[in-house]
Parts: sequence; C-alpha cells; structure tokens
Amino acid sequence: MGSKLVDFLNREVRRYVRWCTPSVILNAERVEDIYGTDVSASLSIYGIPGESSGIFYEAQERAAKLYGADMTLFSVHGSTGSVYIVMRYLSLAYGTPLVLVTRNIHVSVQNACEDFGIRYRFIPSQYDEELDAFVPPTPDDVEESLRRHPEANAVLLSNPTYEGLSCKLKEIVRRIRNFSEDVLIIVDEAWGSHFRFSDRLPETAMEAGADVSIQSTHKQGGSLQQTGMIHWKRDRVDSDLMMEAYRGYTTTSPSFHLMASLDAARSYLERSGKRAVGSVIKKAEELREKLKEIPKLKIMDDGLLEKWRDRISGWDLTKTQVILTSYDTTGFQLDLLLQRKYRVVPETSNYNSLLFMATFQLREEDVDITTKAVGKALSEVGTVRNKKLLRPPLRADPPVIDPYIVRRMPKRIISRRVPLRLAPGMISAENITPYPPGVPILIKGFRISKEDIEYLLTVKRHGGILLAKDPSLETVEVIYGM
Ligand SMILES: Cc1ncc(COP(=O)(O)O)c(C=O)c1O
Repeated sequence: MGSKLVDFLNREVRRYVRWCTPSVILNAERVEDIYGTDVSASLSIYGIPGESSGIFYEAQERAAKLYGADMTLFSVHGSTGSVYIVMRYLSLAYGTPLVLVTRNIHVSVQNACEDFGIRYRFIPSQYDEELDAFVPPTPDDVEESLRRHPEANAVLLSNPTYEGLSCKLKEIVRRIRNFSEDVLIIVDEAWGSHFRFSDRLPETAMEAGADVSIQSTHKQGGSLQQTGMIHWKRDRVDSDLMMEAYRGYTTTSPSFHLMASLDAARSYLERSGKRAVGSVIKKAEELREKLKEIPKLKIMDDGLLEKWRDRISGWDLTKTQVILTSYDTTGFQLDLLLQRKYRVVPETSNYNSLLFMATFQLREEDVDITTKAVGKALSEVGTVRNKKLLRPPLRADPPVIDPYIVRRMPKRIISRRVPLRLAPGMISAENITPYPPGVPILIKGFRISKEDIEYLLTVKRHGGILLAKDPSLETVEVIYGM
C-alpha cells in the first residue's frame, strides 16, 4: 500500500482554489533539494537552532530588525508552540501569575495556562451575530479589568481577531502603561504577520509598543506551514529567561527547512513586502467587489463596521467575511458544498458566515472561479427571511475554581459525566470549544449556563466542529458535588 498522504499532496492539493492558510510566497528563495539536504544540529559548526547561535542567530536578528523588535525567535511549532514558550516564560518569571486575556483566546493559551499554573481572567468583549465576528474590547474595558485585578502581571490580547478586526492597540497600550509600568503586554498576533508591510493595515504589536508579539508567519507572512516568530522588546522582558523557556519547549531536532523558509520569507518581504502585500489586498478587494454583485449577499466592509468604531482601529483587508443572513444555509454547510462540489476552500466558516483569506499564491483567475462557485452554490440553497442569528455566550465571570487547579486534580476522583441537559448550574471539568470560531464556551472550573448548552447544541446541529471529550455532546464532564 502506497502513501495516501504523499498522493494527496502530489495529486490533489493543486486542484483546489485555496483561500486559506498557509500563504506561501512562491518566488522567495528556495532550498533546491529538501530530501537530500535534510540535516540536524550534528552539523554544528554553522550554528545550533535550539541555542539560537550562528546562522540561526543571524536569521533571527535580521527578522527582529525587519519587524521592529529587539529580539526574535523562530518557531517550528506554529503559534501554538510560541504561546507555550511565552507562557513558560511567564511561569518562570512570576511563578503563578495572573493574566488578563481577551475572550477570544486560542485554545493553546487556555492549555498553556492550565499546564503552567497560570491564572487568567477575561476582559469583557462583544460579538456581532450578524457579521459572525468577535469584536475586541475597548481601551476602557481593558483599563476597568486592570482596576478589578490590579495584581495582574500581564495582559494578553488576541489581536487581530480571526475575522481580522484590530483593537485600538496603541490606546490600550497607553492605558496599561499609565496604570502600571510593570504589566507585560503580550499580543497573540497569529493573524497579523503581514501587517508590517502595508500602511492600509492596522499597526502591529511592536509598532504599538507592546512587549511581546506572537505571529504565525505561515498564516499570512509567506513561510511554510508550521512556522512562526516570537518578537519582543527588551525593556520588560528578560531575554535570558525567554531563551530558557524556548530551549525547554522546542524540539531538539527542528526542521532546518522550516527555519530557512522563515528566513527566505523575511528576505523577500524586506525587499518587496509592500508590493507583495499590496497585491494580496488587491486580490481580496476584487473578490469583495465581485461577491457584492451576488443579490442579497452581504460582505463585511467599513460601512458594516461603522457601529464598532469605538472598538476597532482597522481591519485586515486581505480577509473577506461573507454574511449569509438572507440565505437558507449556514456557513458550515456552504463551506462543505464549496469544497466538495466546486473545489473552492474558504479559510473558515461559521454559523452565518464564510471567511475567505487572500494569499500570496492565488492566481489571477481564482477570483472569477470563486465568485462563480459562490453564486452557483447560493442559488442551490435559496434565500430565507428573518433568519435567527446565533451569538456565543461571552460571559466574563470569574471561574469558581481556577482551571489550572482543576487540571491538577485526579480526574477519576473529582469528575463525572452527566447528560448535557443536566449540566446547567454545575461546574465544568472540561473545555468545550466550537472550532471555528475557536472561542472557548465551557471552561474547566467555570459554572455552566443554560445559554452555553443551547449555543453548543445549535452549533452541533448545524454541522459545526466541537473540540470536546464527547463530540456527540450527549454528555459533559463536570465536577462532583458542585
Ligand atoms: C489567535 C490564534 N493564536 C494562535 C493560534 C495557533 O496558531 P498555529 O496554527 O500557528 O499553531 C491560532 C490558530 O489559528 C490563532 O487563531
């Protein structure tokens, strides 16, 4: 039996129009023979990646300069790995720190907090159920959270959001600094690695004066899948401790090819970043213009975002959020139809939306192919009036027991599975996250509400994917006797 995976990559992938990650720069420098040059740190005289020495140090130093940081480290574990490294840093630096986080944190932040014994509290946020988009907190929201928790060691903002909305980052940084010079500002900027290269895109975390930025360079910054960068400024970050956190987490056998792809993307963007990112934005604009010709289809734009003016400083123009309020379908169903029948792959879908992300590798004809496919798919599903929209319950109440404590309790002793309908009022012993949008709904140690359960069941009924111990959602794990 041959390898189906090899076959999939060789024969299938190119047949799809992919409006999704990774966004790889096709004409950046390339390694000529990946299989023949696969190599490890045994060949050590040029430098060791885990030590960030030699050619690896030079590559990271050049990246730091380009992205406006004092220091940069390369990740071959995506931003998931970078989040773990930064959280490991926090636990090394502060013991059991308290971090204020936005409500849209990625599951990796939750998991790392649990693993490293980090407490977190949510900064209140909003959700726009028509746009199907998480709306970032205002500077006031962040400041009020700090006043409620003056002992916080750090603030972690997931910015921009998956749908591309960026908070008023500069003002938030200013408010946090006014409150205390000691609070570390970390931005999970997984979706912002291209922002540096266009004046039309929101500012980056480094530009806004944050301390640490985590970027998935593979998502929109031009390198291969799995790669990312951690940037930081030295003022509040102990660089030796960050290196210790890096060494303690990173594989001792990182792929030199993945690291080289980060260096090659950096080199290309240094020379031609503005032009390259400008043409990705142009592709997205063409897509939006053509999609707007489809009757009753709404596309997220400045007009629809006007009502959130006090919360957002800008949005990612490479992203196209398609709103399905007038159509008799969910984004989940339409996504599958587009992939199966038309070979068009959106970045993601949600209850009332599809998200298309323009990339470096899209071809000239892809806009046409895609708009025709969306038009045909929508004519198959038909229209609807008064569609009931769906809003995830974004409560920001504190946990009854901190998630990291629940994570340390012996599972068999403290928890039991109960039918989902009996769960409201009980305390969750597991995390359940619909993916997308990837915003955690049930969280270990938090009290479960009726709205949580209704939301999860609706997502499930309409074909959404749930990260849960029992994805059928018949049962949920709760804490005994509470
Ligand atoms: C906000 C955010 N942070 C971190 C990650 C993890 O990124 P990666 O897939 O590079 O591990 C994601 C993934 O989508 C994300 O959306």
